[in-house]
Amino acid sequence: MKSEQSQRLMERARRTCPGGIHSNVRANWQPTPMFYDRGQGSRVWDADGNEFIDYVLARGPLLLGHSPGPVIEAVKRQLDRGLMYAGQSVLEIEAAERFVKLVPCADLVRFSNSGSEAIHAAMRLARAVTGRTKIVRFEGHYHGWFDNAFWNYAPPLNQAGPRESPQPRPVSRGQVASDAENLIVLPWNDLALAERAFAAHGNAIAAVLTEPIMCNCGAIMPRPGYLEGLRELCTRHGSLLIFDEVITGFRVSLGGAQQYFGVTPDLATFAKGMAGGFPVSAVAGRREYMEEFGTLTVTHAGTYNSNPPCMAATRAALDMLSADDGALLKHAHAMGEQLMTGIKALGRAAGRDVHVRGVPTAFFVSFNDREEIVDYRTSTTRDRDAYGRFWTALQERGIRTIPEGLWFVSTAHTQADVDETLAAVKEAMGA
Ligand SMILES: Cc1ncc(COP(=O)(O)O)c(C=O)c1O
Repeated sequence: MKSEQSQRLMERARRTCPGGIHSNVRANWQPTPMFYDRGQGSRVWDADGNEFIDYVLARGPLLLGHSPGPVIEAVKRQLDRGLMYAGQSVLEIEAAERFVKLVPCADLVRFSNSGSEAIHAAMRLARAVTGRTKIVRFEGHYHGWFDNAFWNYAPPLNQAGPRESPQPRPVSRGQVASDAENLIVLPWNDLALAERAFAAHGNAIAAVLTEPIMCNCGAIMPRPGYLEGLRELCTRHGSLLIFDEVITGFRVSLGGAQQYFGVTPDLATFAKGMAGGFPVSAVAGRREYMEEFGTLTVTHAGTYNSNPPCMAATRAALDMLSADDGALLKHAHAMGEQLMTGIKALGRAAGRDVHVRGVPTAFFVSFNDREEIVDYRTSTTRDRDAYGRFWTALQERGIRTIPEGLWFVSTAHTQADVDETLAAVKEAMGA
């Protein structure tokens, strides 16, 4: 695989940008953090002219593939009519109407730009409406990079503290240690430990914040009854249940993971997948809580919030997703299902101890798991070196996936893509 252009561009980028990248999450690509030239549908081309079937999908936002036609057309139409007014537009009403129709918990919605902002808003709102400060969060869950939320994402196990009560650990230098006073960190998927935390701190807990599927850390599914148990605990103790649906929203089902599992949170956050790749996020939830933003006593703000081109993209993307009873999403699930089944079968046929978990539009592949993967700590038993070799072999064969093991499938992936991918998987398993 050629990478000379990417390497040259990286050297040039480093002269004006720390590390040559504008998000630290993009650092871990080999042989170099790569530069891309264009994307269309399920395909992406890098600066060296290499073509890939893309299962990275910008780490999730391209649920409709690269540059989906109706979204691009809707944005183009708006571009000639103005970018922002610091005032309202009909587009944002139309986007919100479509949004609340699809999402079970969403009596009301507020739009912003990134998932991190939406999480920030949800945590603030939960604290405001309960008058409490503590947020229960789980080891290995990623809720964005803001100070309040960027804790215990991937702590080294020798610094993580006991499994039952993990030590709160900031991820980045520069975070404030005292923020830990307002966090209770728990292992995920263990209802007994959540019950214990509520027994000890129930009247101080503003909210439980959780990904309904632990996507970033292994596409780990909730154990039967776990989300229902968290729901019941929150209700009993007057705390809010917040689902971080930044990845699962509109992808797992049209109504997100809350619809898929039949568990309705009080608040939920959305981003990747709701606007065809444009930067839009949302915090949504029960009217009685969300109205607090409307009283102006709880601040949710942002110069770029609900800007018309992004609202045009949201309206068009939600229309595409809901058309024909969700036919596009059903197609993506069918493609993903074939990939999941095919990767498992090809791994076994090659004598590899391969594991495939999650849902067809967001699944995780790993090798040599030493125990059942149910939370962050068990997820660390997977063999990263083996996956790294598999990842490289796939990339060399024109299949682009996230280095850690997560695969996203879009509505633009075709049967031919799946067939080509599985042929490459077969070779890569052998390699
Ligand atoms: C589950 C989850 N929550 C929140 C975020 C933060 O979103 P953003 O990167 O748009 O700030 C991410 C990003 O990967 C995510 O996966």
